[in-house]
This record gives sequence, structure tokens and C-alpha cells, in this order.
Amino acid sequence: MRMLEGRGAVVTGAAQGIGWEIARVLGDAGASVLVGDINGDAAKDAAARLREHGVAADALRCDVTDPGDVEALIAHGTEVFGPLDVMVNNAGITRDATMRKMPIEDFRTVLDVHLTGAWNGTRYAAEAMRAHGRGSIVNISSISGKVGNFGQTNYSAAKAGMVGLTKASAKELAKAGIRVNAVQPGLIRTAMTEAMPAHAWEAKMAEIPMGRAGEPVEVANVVLFLASDLAGYLTGAVLEVTGGRYM
Ligand code: NAI
Repeated sequence: MRMLEGRGAVVTGAAQGIGWEIARVLGDAGASVLVGDINGDAAKDAAARLREHGVAADALRCDVTDPGDVEALIAHGTEVFGPLDVMVNNAGITRDATMRKMPIEDFRTVLDVHLTGAWNGTRYAAEAMRAHGRGSIVNISSISGKVGNFGQTNYSAAKAGMVGLTKASAKELAKAGIRVNAVQPGLIRTAMTEAMPAHAWEAKMAEIPMGRAGEPVEVANVVLFLASDLAGYLTGAVLEVTGGRYM
């Protein structure tokens, strides 16, 4: 029996990178997966690739900062795949600069996508999950939310905020049978990190006890664990997936 057989999942920002890999791994475990992404065409392509891979998948354009879009995403998931069991708030962006150089718009935008986006996702997913008395919400934070990264006051603040959101919503939703947890990946090999200058990549590598970057599947496998009944007594937890960096 696959761990998520017959369950419905929504993954935001799943058109590529870690989100796509999460969608694939949840799908491999038996879940039907709705891909939500601000890039509607890429989301459709991603769902098509998931179907080629044998996953029951669909896609909808969704800007996670827009509550109406998120509400529509959850409604679509429920309509197409039945009750929602798993929600993964993964959509993200970076707008790096030191605080002296960062325009306030870049601070606000990054907070809006990660933090307001995860709040919207948690809020509307929880409403759908309440209806059938169970569910697992997973927020993709970052180790930068624990330690703070130079040049990322916006991103680090947003990712730390997601930890507070995870714990507060875990308390509010526990009695409804809904668990809320967060994952803090370290350096993971994706388009977002491969855009980094070589010297920054090497500096990070030196800090990782396991001596290598993580792969998206290594984050996705932890999300699968949190989404599944194996994590049935786990809520409000923050799991670091960092190869030991900043333990
Ligand atoms: P990525 O840039 O490859 O993918 C992000 C996806 O989110 C894209 O498909 C993009 O279109 C979508 N997106 C952006 N803004 C959106 C919005 N407003 N509404 C809906 N979708 C939106 O990034 P990656 O590396 O796969 O990151 C995924 C998540 O993991 C992000 O939350 C990121 O902060 C987090 N993370 C990544 C790490 C890494 O090393 N790559 C490390 C720690 C955390």
C-alpha cells in the first residue's frame, strides 16, 4: 500500500524545482496532485510531466499572494480530486541585496510571497480539511529563517515568520485533526541556487558537514514523511534538511 493512496494534495510553486519534485514524490506515493503556480503555462507543463510519470495531476495558475487565487486553487483541487489531505506551501522567490541597497518593494514582495502566501494557503486548506477532519500542511521555510543570511533580510525574515505561522496554526488546527509542520532546507541544487555566484556556492559548501548540496528529492522525501500517517503525532515541528549545516 502506498503511503498517500487515494489522497488529494495541492503544491504551490510546483512548476519547477523543489515544488515539482515534491509533487512527483507525493504522486509516487499515491496522491493526486494539483500544481499551483504563478506561471500558468509552466504549471500545465509540469502537470503533463507528472501524468507522463503516472501521477494523477492537474494544474491551475495561482498567485499565492492573492487570497482569491488560493481559495480557487483549493476549491479546484477538491472538485477534481476529492477531499484535500495535503497542502504544501512551497512557492518562493528571492530579491537579494544588503539592507542599504534593498528597495522597500523588494522587502514587501518577498514577505508577501512567502509569508502571506503560506498564510493564505494554510487558511484556505484548513477550511477544506476541517470538512473531513484530517489533513497535513507543510510549509517550506529555509535554514536562513533560523540563522539569517547576509543580503537576505527580506527572505530570512519571511522564512522565520513561516516558523511562527507554522506553530501558531498548528495550535489552532490540532483539534480539527490537522497537523502543520515546516521544513527548513539548506543548500539545495535548483535553478534558484544555481544562479548564485561560484564564490558564494563554494563558501556555503564549506559550511556543510556532509560536504555536498542537497537534491530536491531529499527535501521532497521529508515532505512525504510529514504528509503521511508516519508523522501522525508530529505537529508544529520544524525539520532541518541541511546535511548538518547550522545544526
Ligand atoms: P524555484 O525558483 O525553482 O521555484 C519556485 C516556484 O515558485 C516557481 O515555479 C515560481 O514560478 C513559483 N512562484 C513564485 N512566486 C509565486 C507566486 N507568487 N505564486 C505562486 N507561485 C510562485 O525555487 P526552489 O529552489 O525550487 O524553491 C522552492 C521553495 O524552497 C521556496 O520557497 C524556497 O524559498 C525554498 N528553499 C529553497 C532552497 C534552495 O536551496 N533551492 C533552500 C531553502 C528553501
